[in-house]
Amino acid sequence: MTENADGRRWWHGAVIYQLYVRSWRDSNDDGYGDLRGIIERLDYLSWLGVDAVWLSPTMPSPDEDWGYDVSDYTGVHPELGTLADLDELIDQAGQRGMRVLLDLVPNHTSSAHPWFADAASGREAEHRRYYVWADPRPDGGRPNNWLDFTGRPAWQWHDSGQYYLHNFLPGQPDLNWWEPAVHQEFARILEFWFERGVAGFRIDVANGLYKDAELRDNPPLDSDNPLEGVFGLRFVYNSNRPETHGVYRDWRKIAESYSPERLLLGETWVPDAQRLAAYYGDNDELQLGFNFPFALADLDPARLAAIVEQTLAALPPGGCPVWMGSNHDLGRFPSRWCGGDERKIRLALLVLATLPGTSVLYYGDEIGMTDVDVPAALRRDHATLDLEGGADRDRARTPMPWDGSPGSGFTGPGVTPWLPMADPPVSSVADQRDKPESPLSLCRRLLALRRTELGRGLADFENLA
Ligand code: NOJ
Repeated sequence: MTENADGRRWWHGAVIYQLYVRSWRDSNDDGYGDLRGIIERLDYLSWLGVDAVWLSPTMPSPDEDWGYDVSDYTGVHPELGTLADLDELIDQAGQRGMRVLLDLVPNHTSSAHPWFADAASGREAEHRRYYVWADPRPDGGRPNNWLDFTGRPAWQWHDSGQYYLHNFLPGQPDLNWWEPAVHQEFARILEFWFERGVAGFRIDVANGLYKDAELRDNPPLDSDNPLEGVFGLRFVYNSNRPETHGVYRDWRKIAESYSPERLLLGETWVPDAQRLAAYYGDNDELQLGFNFPFALADLDPARLAAIVEQTLAALPPGGCPVWMGSNHDLGRFPSRWCGGDERKIRLALLVLATLPGTSVLYYGDEIGMTDVDVPAALRRDHATLDLEGGADRDRARTPMPWDGSPGSGFTGPGVTPWLPMADPPVSSVADQRDKPESPLSLCRRLLALRRTELGRGLADFENLA
């Protein structure tokens, strides 16, 4: 079914499954999950009852930030497969009634992208304007006080005599969205993938694209505001700029020129419902935006209900909310919300499956997979490795436990997975599949119920908290 009788789109009431490709299923025993591994296990997703998968980054990348540093926007990372594999995945998923969303990273490229290589070759280079360059202050200092997401200065000195901006790692130079050619490049990238049949995109750092044209200093840190640390409220001028909305109005037109069913789902890292709703525009920007305050709340009925009510009230009429508890940055809800308590995990699955709108499950949520304590020596997330007290994002990126065989059904016997598996005894898909009381069986029943009875209505949310 693509559209309900009342004209709602497929994502109303749908469940999207976030699939961290490197950790889901390794088809060629190299320790990394890959696209062919997903193709092999599509029947599982169809059995589970999800409507779409969002693939974590699949494009070529030097992997300083595991694919969030893209070096080619129209390719497939060779460790994950080929373009033909991705075509086949889209086709095979479609045959099972499931759609495929790709992760698109428009805020920055890898410093290994040919655009940046050219831009860095000199001040007159053709692609220089694709990035945010600035002269030093008269005393040689950085252009302003902007910090990157690690809390370090966001400017990197370059021997072409200027600084360049990186809101993330120095290997992730920010694109300059004041440059019309950047818009044209991304319009072509969207078209390239829409032509290949992707159903849409999860848009990385969706609220970040434009930067203040005058490069004004950010206001000082407000250490008394609890939202400051989590939501980086100091990012006033190097993120959250109003001009970004125009990009999504343009992209929405591109998406809808293919079909009103093509979806833009933003990583809208904003602290409240009003700022989230702004990215839906007048129903002419993103169709969906992630709700981070919800994911970061505790499993506290009053708090969650308040966020749900505020979100439903703030979205434009017909705007569809998005609910998730886990992702590859935040960690897993079975740990964060539930402390590993299986009764709470079942309750949280019930909440996620019965809220109106779109629910996003992170791979492993369905079996109540908890965070894994990855020893420092085995961590692979360069972005947070040397951050003092920084979050360990690897804990939520470990391989899916499919069964009790050597390699856990993720990879072959004797192969060292790229991140360690959870220590046994961990509950696997095989353990839970035939147990009616397991989180997996509950999740599957809930998703079936959601398809038939629940989730379609946005108007009839009742607060039972
Ligand atoms: C958000 C992604 O989810 C995260 O993993 C990444 O490090 C940053 N954006 C930078 O792309």
